[in-house]
Amino acid sequence: MGKRIPQDKKFVADIEIIDIAEEGRGVAKRDELVMFIEKAIPGDIVDVELLRKKKNLVEGKVTAVKSPSPHRVEPFCPHFGVCGGCKWQHMNYDAQLLFKAKYVDNVLSRIGKVDTSSMEPILGSEETAYYRNKLEYTFSNKRWLTNKDEETADRDMNALGFHVPGRFDKILDIDHCFLQADPSNDIRNSIREFATNHGISFYDLRAHEGALRNVIIRTASTGEVMVIVVFAYPTLEQIDQLMEFVNSKFPNLASLLYIVNQKRNDTIFDQEIEVFSGRDFIYEEMEGLKFKVGPKSFYQTNSAQAYELYKITRDFAGLTGNEVVYDLYTGAGTIANFVARHAKQVVGIEYVPSAIEDAKINSEINDVKNTKFYAGDMKDVLTVSFVEEHGKPDVIITDPPRAGMHGDVIKCLLEVEAPKIVYVSCNAATQARDLELLSEKYKVDRIKPVDMFPHTQHVENVVLLSRK
Ligand SMILES: C[S@@+](CC[C@H](N)C(=O)[O-])C[C@H]1O[C@@H](n2cnc3c(N)ncnc32)[C@H](O)[C@@H]1O
Repeated sequence: MGKRIPQDKKFVADIEIIDIAEEGRGVAKRDELVMFIEKAIPGDIVDVELLRKKKNLVEGKVTAVKSPSPHRVEPFCPHFGVCGGCKWQHMNYDAQLLFKAKYVDNVLSRIGKVDTSSMEPILGSEETAYYRNKLEYTFSNKRWLTNKDEETADRDMNALGFHVPGRFDKILDIDHCFLQADPSNDIRNSIREFATNHGISFYDLRAHEGALRNVIIRTASTGEVMVIVVFAYPTLEQIDQLMEFVNSKFPNLASLLYIVNQKRNDTIFDQEIEVFSGRDFIYEEMEGLKFKVGPKSFYQTNSAQAYELYKITRDFAGLTGNEVVYDLYTGAGTIANFVARHAKQVVGIEYVPSAIEDAKINSEINDVKNTKFYAGDMKDVLTVSFVEEHGKPDVIITDPPRAGMHGDVIKCLLEVEAPKIVYVSCNAATQARDLELLSEKYKVDRIKPVDMFPHTQHVENVVLLSRK
């Protein structure tokens, strides 16, 4: 929470923003005090309202931009500022890339003690709008009221959109989202309109009642579209009415599914999926390989940039066709199958059993015969005896979640001593921590950040390590 700021010290003028913090806020310094300021970017001179004090830093928000940073641009989305989705839309894309690369450089050298002098330029995303292949919208009967709404008498309190940051129960109604290509916006708006016109209730996130809960839309580079409507407490007639409407309005959907989720949380991993029409999966495609994507499957959300990321990973691995490759945290086996044609044998390991089933199917449908997949917690599966049984790896590709690798996994990597490790990470800070631990036996040869998520502070980073 932090301490409140006394009224007479709440407003400060002419603050120069000198840097950007990991989670995207502008950083300033005055009289030894470090400020983290929402919606400020390096180069701005701003007036600030200080909100709270935490240890030796204060948090605040911009009240006026006195002199805009040269990096500032007009956000293109009307929902910018309230929606938490694209926090950096007020900064031009070149500057976003600059700050993402600077962040990677900073954490790798500071936390990882890595010499970053030969870090390669960050790879930007060709598409900076409509780049996501999956979005999840939430229904709510407690719409977040914007300043404009406050002025209008007509207040429909139903909303279908995204959570307002910091408010689990308030949903911002989305009119147009620039993150996912058509027909995503049309589907969402049509469902909202139909439900409103037919009196199908929107979920109450506090009381846990109401018919409609979420809509998940998945689009693929093949042009196939999956829609999953998640109900909470509907009547059978309402399910039929709404699903029939979606089916007739969007007859080309490859997969139209629904779920009745009456749990307290929104996750669908433990839920029964009902097929209303079409198949229960869609196909993605990459370099002639097909990937089956089900409602519960993980697939990188920026398909085009995932292809670039995988090519960099394969290039760093330097495969000749003779290598035994381990793909750690393989998900649905996408990287494993992508590199399989360039390796002798690929062994994929992943926590989620259904993802491992998908990985095996993905090998099968692509006629890839040199992959093997194992499900389980990495720290338990990847052991020296597992390696003795499945063959010593020439290259280890590892793509862990944000938390990075478990200490036992690092210990095992140090014992296994593969000649090369390609470390793909969505969190350079934990990657840096792991690199420091691996430095006992490995040196960093190549570093390349990749931007998968334009207008956000997130950045992916690929590092090639070789045995010292
Ligand atoms: C960043 S994703 C990588 C997915 C995959 N490489 C891809 O590109 O599609 C991380 C994966 O690690 C898995 N995971 C998380 N914790 C794990 C653990 N302790 N052991 C094994 N796998 C884990 C997650 O289920 C997820 O599929």
